[in-house]
Amino acid sequence: MEAGTESTTADGAGGAASTLSEIAQRKGFLETSDPALQESADRGEANLLGYTELYELWERQQWRTQDLDFSRDRTDWNERIEPEERLQRMYGLSAFFIGEQRVTDELGPIMRAAPTEEQRIFLSTQIADEARHVRFFNRFYQEVGVLEGADDLAARLRTTKEHLNDAFAELFDVMLKGRVDRLAAAPEDTELLVECVTLYHMVIEGALALTGQHFIIEYNEEQNTLPAFVEGFQNVARDEHRHIAFGVRFLTDMAKEDQRYREAIQRMMAEALPIADQVLDPPWAQEDDWELFGYSRDETHAFAAQCLSRRLKVIGLA
Ligand SMILES: [Fe+2]
Ligand SMILES: [Fe+2]
Repeated sequence: MEAGTESTTADGAGGAASTLSEIAQRKGFLETSDPALQESADRGEANLLGYTELYELWERQQWRTQDLDFSRDRTDWNERIEPEERLQRMYGLSAFFIGEQRVTDELGPIMRAAPTEEQRIFLSTQIADEARHVRFFNRFYQEVGVLEGADDLAARLRTTKEHLNDAFAELFDVMLKGRVDRLAAAPEDTELLVECVTLYHMVIEGALALTGQHFIIEYNEEQNTLPAFVEGFQNVARDEHRHIAFGVRFLTDMAKEDQRYREAIQRMMAEALPIADQVLDPPWAQEDDWELFGYSRDETHAFAAQCLSRRLKVIGLA
């Protein structure tokens, strides 16, 4: 995935663009104003919501993890999905479960460092969303019985972490946590804040999370598996589009304000995208031509690149 490039494969750009217009049809997704869902973003134009509008959208887009009934999912997981496939699915599930927990824990200092009250209020809603996403995965693991012998949230996080690769730890535990720790000590460092938002909203949520979410949701829909998981995960994805819309808004405003911030965005992207690329590759894939959930490595990376390219054009950086 390279910032600002259309795609790496012949059918990649067109394929990703038509996939994105299908995703934009899902309920409430286009409303978030994420440029990745707007075709006009290919020309650098998008309708971006303001911070207060994003807050108001959050009030309208509430959902409850406790409303989901996982009984069909339990049967699917234990009786319809083969053991080998369960093992392959564990990489995606673990990356999301741990990823949601990490971003919940790291967002506080970013919220506090945001320069305006409107931005801080929106980011406070995002902390609540990320906590809800952790609860969603915890409930899925618990109700479906994904891990034997792990009976509480801490035990599940500990056990599921074993399925992740080294790049995941590098991105979340070193790059993200290191920067957020520095920002917590220096909340007036706006350039560092710009780096944190680039890493969090553009790379982790924008390039990684939404790519994984899309392919996992689509695969389960095609296979007719895990219906409650799919319902909840679509709500998670819609929340993520709203979070990313905030990130694009914020970085657009900052990029206009100062050349230093434009450089900070580009520097952060150049540093983080190669690692994010490796996170997309599952640890059991030996070669570069792996296939997961019916999609090739190239298709997965082309989708992530197309999303990123549209957002960067809107920010004015591509
Ligand atoms: Fe999340
Ligand atoms: Fe998020």
